[in-house]
Amino acid sequence: MSLQIESLSVAFGQGPQSLLAVQDLSLGLEPGQTLGVVGESGCGKSTLALAIMGLLPAAARVTGGRVRFDGQTLIDGNQRYPSHLRGRRLAMVFQDPMTSLNPYLSIEAQFRLPLRRHLKLSRSQARARTIELLRTVGIPDPEERLGRHAHEFSGGQRQRLGIALALCCDPELLIADEPTTALDVTIQAGILSLLRDLQQQRRLGLLLITHDLGVVAQMCQEVMVMYAGRCVERASAEALFAQPQHPYTKALLAAVPRLDSEPGSALANIPGQPPRITSPSHSCPFAPRCRFAEERCQQQLPQLLPCGPGHQAACLLLPQAGPAQAPGDAP
Ligand SMILES: Nc1ncnc2c1ncn2[C@@H]1O[C@H](COP(=O)(O)OP(=O)(O)O)[C@@H](O)[C@H]1O
Ligand SMILES: [Mg+2]
Repeated sequence: MSLQIESLSVAFGQGPQSLLAVQDLSLGLEPGQTLGVVGESGCGKSTLALAIMGLLPAAARVTGGRVRFDGQTLIDGNQRYPSHLRGRRLAMVFQDPMTSLNPYLSIEAQFRLPLRRHLKLSRSQARARTIELLRTVGIPDPEERLGRHAHEFSGGQRQRLGIALALCCDPELLIADEPTTALDVTIQAGILSLLRDLQQQRRLGLLLITHDLGVVAQMCQEVMVMYAGRCVERASAEALFAQPQHPYTKALLAAVPRLDSEPGSALANIPGQPPRITSPSHSCPFAPRCRFAEERCQQQLPQLLPCGPGHQAACLLLPQAGPAQAPGDAP
């Protein structure tokens, strides 16, 4: 399995007021790799995830780019999405667990559907596998609770059911959208260690969307920082924490509460809000909130350029980002 995304763009709505939620975004993910996707609320993380899964809401459309999975095309122009792969080879944990759980079916029935369809298990095999999965994600008395419905579980348990359902057919790629945000710390640690085991033992490729930089530090080898629908920095987790390059990444890191900060002291916050982008940008989208911004930041859209080994950032103030090279200039 490998995931290749090339210049993906997604917009909500039609015409000049359409919202450019994901813009010109590229990434690659290899088996056994965990890529963290971070950024404030509204920067396009969930839209990216839904696009890869072929599950964009009706208001959204892919306006450009390609996505390939293990040599097969997922997205390219008007090509039909290969939905038979979904739930089998690629799966998703949704930010809101009720998106993946059906309120009208018992838990057993919901797990039985994919297990029978994709893995061709018998009823009793499906039942046994469901019990094992529920136990793995920490649902107490799984045998007793197979006949229950989603609303009979707590919020945190529903989240764990969503995770178990995503994992039920042993996917090769898992996209997890804020999978542990609603969970308390002990349960969160359990889920993260389960995902880490799958990543290491089964070579699961994991695209982990989170706003929790602590989770990124524990889980991810690589990190992509998104702002206003674009990737603004990409690096190994180690390099990103040690030497963040983009002012937005620096601000995100500074906004993390520290163990040694004064109890009750306010969190550092990034003033202002991410913009709503409705037309192609000719300036840095972060400039209005950037405390280092200069005049040129208002006049040119920064490109994602190398700024160290395996490290890229999109900021005009970085040394590599001099005047754009003309096409024939490349060495
Ligand atoms: N169903 C929708 N209709 C219209 N706009 C949407 C819809 N879902 C998301 N958006 C907009 O798309 C942008 C990206 O949202 P989203 O992908 O949910 O961001 P994130 O997951 O990073 O918080 C936001 O500006 C959001 O308001
Ligand atoms: Mg989201």
